[in-house]
Amino acid sequence: MRKFGFIVHPLSYDDVERYDPGAVGKGRPIIKKILEWIPPYRVSDITGVRSAATGEEITGHFIGVPIMPESWLELPRADIMARLVGAAELAKELGCGILGLGGFSSVVGDGGVTLAETVSGIAITTGNSYTIAAGIQSLFRAARELEIDEANASAVVIGATGSIGSACAQILGNRVARVTLAARNATRLKNLAHAMQPHVSAALDWTIDVREAVRKADLVLTATSAVSAIVEPEDLKAGAVISEVSLPHDVSRRVATERPDVLVSEGGNILVPGDVNFNFDFGLPPRTALACMSETMILTLENKFVNYSLGRGIHLDKVLEIERLADKHGFKLAGMRAFDKAVSAEQVAHTREAARRARAAAATNGAAVAAAVQPDQTAHAR
Ligand SMILES: NC(=O)c1ccc[n+]([C@@H]2O[C@H](COP(=O)([O-])OP(=O)(O)OC[C@H]3O[C@@H](n4cnc5c(N)ncnc54)[C@H](OP(=O)(O)O)[C@@H]3O)[C@@H](O)[C@H]2O)c1
Repeated sequence: MRKFGFIVHPLSYDDVERYDPGAVGKGRPIIKKILEWIPPYRVSDITGVRSAATGEEITGHFIGVPIMPESWLELPRADIMARLVGAAELAKELGCGILGLGGFSSVVGDGGVTLAETVSGIAITTGNSYTIAAGIQSLFRAARELEIDEANASAVVIGATGSIGSACAQILGNRVARVTLAARNATRLKNLAHAMQPHVSAALDWTIDVREAVRKADLVLTATSAVSAIVEPEDLKAGAVISEVSLPHDVSRRVATERPDVLVSEGGNILVPGDVNFNFDFGLPPRTALACMSETMILTLENKFVNYSLGRGIHLDKVLEIERLADKHGFKLAGMRAFDKAVSAEQVAHTREAARRARAAAATNGAAVAAAVQPDQTAHAR
């Protein structure tokens, strides 16, 4: 049976405590250090992923490289590369034909390019092509729910110069009226806007002021490597929607309670075909995986053991191809979730009503939207 591997790591100290209750009550610096001592290991066996097209079943393994997001960014490059090579060698020993780079293992360095050049006998992918497709699908699903007219909408991509963000910006650039590219490095943003403008119909601009960019946007897509919240409730436009691809999340939890008119959804959650058991709780409902994990499964079902999504410049042809293969094998967008909870149809309906009210209030008096929105306790339940 064909097999895949996928690297996982904790995104927060809550994740560590959920996985190992023995960590509860220990100091965070100690936990962080202990995690850095742990070599790559087999976290779980994944069973039951079954293609809807061929009926074929595959298996896989989660491979733990259990360091915290900040450790991925702080540790020396050579140290990180040694951990990634160790994970790839372990996946190979376990019989995997491809290794997906989860979380920050795809963000650090050059997005898997050097790893793919260093190891042999196993293909590497970041899973970013399917993440891009899923992030965009989630954004437009939310936009439809909140009655946003796509062709006349303004969008912002936060993390626009990144691997996922730049491809998302390009796709949005041919579907909406205006796109703002936002990140921290002005030179990279300026160069990207210059290179992208001839290929998109939308008016492009760029900024390093994320808060200002968010104020103008009907559609917000987050794909940054920030380790704390950067989208705050007081900045969001009336009735905006957010597709939150970033992990850890970029949207402040205060949005859940302070902006009942804004629809937030995690951008990359996918329903996996078959009676899948991950044998590991990574915080999503049964049968649900991240899009990057799903890409690794889809390539395995397709017997396509090739280096796939690597580096910063993901080609849109790959996004279209993986979207087609996902459909073929029965992978699809999972139900909406935000702030680690399911968003019910009833909550969406309340958000739609609150969005209508907030837009009307903003149109009449231009007052601060947060003040105009009447809190709605049902919508707050998310
Ligand atoms: N949901 C899923 O299935 C899934 C799958 C894969 C990846 N992801 C997540 O997607 C995110 C992006 O991944 P990637 O591979 O595209 O990363 P990447 O290529 O490293 O890009 C990160 C982007 O974020 C920007 N950025 C970083 N910190 C920022 C801040 N504080 N404010 C504004 N912009 C900031 C960077 O530009 P500057 O340095 O110029 O700011 C860059 O544009 C990560 O959080 C990753 O974990 C999710």
